[in-house]
Amino acid sequence: MSATESREARAAARASHEANPVLTIDHVSVDYLAQRTVHAVKDVSLTLGRGEILGLAGESGCGKSTLAYAINRLLKPPAVVSSGTISFHSREGYTIDLGSLHGDDLRAFRWDRISMVFQGAMNSLNPVISIRAQLEDVFTTHRPEMSKKERRERCGELLERVGVDRSRLRSFPHELSGGMRQRVMIAMAMALDPQVMIMDEPTTALDVVVQREILREITRLRAELGFAVIFITHDLPLLLEISDRIAVMREGEIVELGGAVDVYTNPQHEYTKRLLASFPRLTGERGDFARGSHDRTAGSHEAHASNDGRGAE
Ligand SMILES: Nc1ncnc2c1ncn2[C@@H]1O[C@H](COP(=O)(O)OP(=O)(O)O)[C@@H](O)[C@H]1O
Ligand SMILES: [Mg+2]
Repeated sequence: MSATESREARAAARASHEANPVLTIDHVSVDYLAQRTVHAVKDVSLTLGRGEILGLAGESGCGKSTLAYAINRLLKPPAVVSSGTISFHSREGYTIDLGSLHGDDLRAFRWDRISMVFQGAMNSLNPVISIRAQLEDVFTTHRPEMSKKERRERCGELLERVGVDRSRLRSFPHELSGGMRQRVMIAMAMALDPQVMIMDEPTTALDVVVQREILREITRLRAELGFAVIFITHDLPLLLEISDRIAVMREGEIVELGGAVDVYTNPQHEYTKRLLASFPRLTGERGDFARGSHDRTAGSHEAHASNDGRGAE
């Protein structure tokens, strides 16, 4: 994507979140009824625009994953959604209250309309089953009418879409690098052409170079396919690179929500300022790093690579 296209895609997505929402989170609270009640998510309201990348930032334990699970109706006791509603607005123009879905309806909805890349997902591939069989499983479950030939073709296409050669379909998870396994998980979440993808720390365990390649892939695919993303991470600078808007979460509350550039250049909340200041790579001579990264060549990333060997491709 060229710099102009990238800027235009961002501007369009920013403008449309109110006019053309795909997901509305309205005053949602989640509690864990443990020995001590934890108010993990407190009265959160957010609108996700169709095709928008919304970054959700905040330090560990602030409630990001809990909110993601609430959206996908994946919370289990002792968690309870104590207030609020979450609505999905279909492309076709109808609205579904996610809280009203049960049983088969809920299963059909999940993954099909809203999919999720779970925190630590790349370690959740089954080690004794080939990549092909694990990808195919999504189609046999959700698209039982699909022929075997069609299914195989789709799996190959999906892998290539996320930058993995289709010959890897025959591989087993341990034969792939961390980055490739994470790409497989992203491919799986994209399999059914969902309108919303929730990505919970999708690149946190990967080294910086691999991270950035995957981020570029996600922004390219968003432009191509038009899905919306809630991208969750504790890494605020990383969010600045890919998000249209950013929500900053602290102790269960959204304390700041704005365009990515505004949050970066003109943070309103004290906590956002502290969070920004805590990332040294945003300051100093590489101060423009976060905003210009899409359009740079691979060579310029090398200076930032902290090659710790995890997940290197
Ligand atoms: N099963 C649970 N029982 C009790 N408390 C929990 C449970 N899961 C998460 N929490 C608490 O809820 C809060 C939010 O957790 P989480 O959503 O995982 O945060 P994040 O994803 O931002 O790191 C934390 O205080 C965490 O300890
Ligand atoms: Mg989490």
